[in-house]
Amino acid sequence: MFFLTLDLKNHDYIQENYDIYDLIINRKALKKMNITTLGEFILEKQADFPGSSGELSRILSAIRLAAKIVNQQINKAGLAKHILGAAGSENIQGEQQQKLDVFADEQFIKAMEARGVVCGIASEENDDFVAFESKNPLAKYVVMIDPLDGSSNIDVNVSVGTIFSVYRRKSPIGTEVELEDFLQPGTEQVAAGYVVYGSSTMLVYTTGNGVNGFTYDPGIGVFFLSHPNMQIPKDGRIYSMNEGNIHSSPEGVKKYISYCQENDAATQRPYSGRYIGSLVSDFHRNMIKGGIYIYPATSSAPNGKLRLLYECNPFAFLAEQAGGVATDGNKRIMEIQPTELHQRVPFIVGSKNMVEKALSFGNLR
Ligand code: AHG
Ligand code: MN
Ligand code: MN
Repeated sequence: MFFLTLDLKNHDYIQENYDIYDLIINRKALKKMNITTLGEFILEKQADFPGSSGELSRILSAIRLAAKIVNQQINKAGLAKHILGAAGSENIQGEQQQKLDVFADEQFIKAMEARGVVCGIASEENDDFVAFESKNPLAKYVVMIDPLDGSSNIDVNVSVGTIFSVYRRKSPIGTEVELEDFLQPGTEQVAAGYVVYGSSTMLVYTTGNGVNGFTYDPGIGVFFLSHPNMQIPKDGRIYSMNEGNIHSSPEGVKKYISYCQENDAATQRPYSGRYIGSLVSDFHRNMIKGGIYIYPATSSAPNGKLRLLYECNPFAFLAEQAGGVATDGNKRIMEIQPTELHQRVPFIVGSKNMVEKALSFGNLR
């Protein structure tokens, strides 16, 4: 027998006993209970576009598969010394790579390559993009990925994540994929999402028609739709920033953080400061509870720390699709024209009213 707990569309929890074979074989029973798996959801959405080649669906399925493999390794990281700790190498950005960074990178690249559905992939962990066109001559999509975000937290058992986004290639199908296929503004994203390997593992994604979240049941290896049509609350009471950087942050950021800390009963201040140091986890919490995340330019990171292509654009797309805002302090994140693969930008994202309030303090860059 199998014990199932799911957060359903009406946000009630149901707790029922089902025979595991019923769940796997009897799709009708799942439908009756209003339960949708990620696989079914992807296919249902594909059916909304008659004539679709199904390539995007296959990309999402490849991400789902790699996420399950990475999730399994992360869960046992504390037990297996060979998967914890530094790999002894640095990525292009001079950051120490963890063994799991390298493992996750390989899994996502392999999954994309094996499914034959993308013509190239660019990863935060690699100097240059990887081209697959000889294997996938008809593929029309490229993928950007931060395979393991927040990886410096793995050794202390804190949630980490994967961030991805998908673009249509610019260069002609069947030709060698080019740098310009990857250097597209975020407004061109076809899909974006993240996996948070947390107390539950969740996959959250958008294809530009709202945001949906799926919770993983490790017992049967299936993601279930648990958070349909996610919306970031317009207001929040949580701010997330590495306040160790406050003295070297722009004036507007200093003023806004002071504002968050002031006492004012009418606006329920002071707000709570919450900073995990794992962007996926900080973003996910703010998505659900409302909040603002700020990684500004600092004296040691004059363009901020976060990467436009692998981190900021996918989160900006998700945030906007959920009713939130994402800016570099001056410009909408998704309208920035990238000039290099590993470009960094200041990043402010979250609840609409909070981000707008922060912008009212002037210079945030
Ligand atoms: P990554 O592990 O992919 O390199 O990303 C780390 C990022 C992000 O997850 C987090 O919010 C931020 O770096 C933390 O940086 P600080 O330690 O400078 O606050
Ligand atoms: Mn990251
Ligand atoms: Mn990373």
